[in-house]
Amino acid sequence: MKGLILSGGRGTRLRPITYTSAKQLLPVANKPILFYGIEALAASGIREIGIVVGDTKHEIMEAVSDGGRFGVSVTYIEQEAPLGLAHAVLVSERFIGRERFVVYLGDNLVREPLAPLVRAFQEMEPNCQILLARVPNPQQFGVAELKDGKVVRLVEKPSKPPSNLALVGVYMFDHHVFDAVKAIKPSWRGELEITDAIQWLIERGLTVRPHVIEGWWKDTGKLEDILEANRIILDTLEPRVEGELEASEIHGKVVIEAGAKIVQSVVRGPAIIGKGAMIENAYIGPFTAIGDQVVIRGSEVEHSIILEGSSITDVGGRIESSLVGRNVTIYRSEAKPRSYNLMLGDRSQVGLI
Ligand code: TTP
Repeated sequence: MKGLILSGGRGTRLRPITYTSAKQLLPVANKPILFYGIEALAASGIREIGIVVGDTKHEIMEAVSDGGRFGVSVTYIEQEAPLGLAHAVLVSERFIGRERFVVYLGDNLVREPLAPLVRAFQEMEPNCQILLARVPNPQQFGVAELKDGKVVRLVEKPSKPPSNLALVGVYMFDHHVFDAVKAIKPSWRGELEITDAIQWLIERGLTVRPHVIEGWWKDTGKLEDILEANRIILDTLEPRVEGELEASEIHGKVVIEAGAKIVQSVVRGPAIIGKGAMIENAYIGPFTAIGDQVVIRGSEVEHSIILEGSSITDVGGRIESSLVGRNVTIYRSEAKPRSYNLMLGDRSQVGLI
């Protein structure tokens, strides 16, 4: 079995962050989302992983390298343009060869262990195995219709969903999928859709086995979803303090990495404070991930992700439900005339109180 992680794409829903970096490298609990996927595949026994990359390939290659530290060997596969998930599979044919393989969307987090699913796929030998999760809002997902334990139809974002079973971003295929991705035509949005490829398999009488997962799963394509994933993962961390504390209070599950300094501050977990961060005269509230070398001074931050190298100083109100990119500076100025001084990239969002 081989693994294929899709890490190209446009990431339009996460602009402006995705103007400058790959969304798959955004950290959840201070670890890039992509690493969770690589670890999940490695834990299921897969040793050879192809990563499909697009415009952000250099950044992804730098972060993952040859995969050695995850115990896997990584091959990079270039997709010339984000022409759809099925197109990403198509360009990977040479890497996959005739083997069975798992496709994992690089911006997804699936907490269910994959090993039993990979084993079932190998033992039962269906042509395809899809993972499904029960969701309250199936209209927003690819949805599967099942009959007698088999998948009979997939529909993309249906207005009248045939079930509440949404497609999770992990799929398993044998080589028949390459016939499918070559046969299908681009959808209305100009992409080769993986749901169309699977529907093609169903219509040709090939077996598509469903597996309904019970654990949680998150597609982190949007800000709210990243914050939610951050919330869920932070809650699973083992508390640990390796940094320095001075006249400060720590409550609940808190990780403070080496070299971080907490001075006259309150940190209420679940929260993580990255290496070399400086928290002074500040409040860090639940569900917050503070990146490496971040400075928070005279400010309050809660339910947010602050990326490495940023600084937040003397902000009056509490910063909440926010994602702050790398090396961002937010500060209060006493200079007159009193005014907001902003330098924001395209599509930035600022909520003032
Ligand atoms: P999506 O989130 O569906 O697409 P996107 O990344 O273009 O984002 P947006 O809708 O906000 O513009 O992609 C799911 C995963 O698959 C993600 O990790 C990117 C990857 N992908 C590819 O590798 N190639 C592609 O052609 C597409 C569409 C996505």
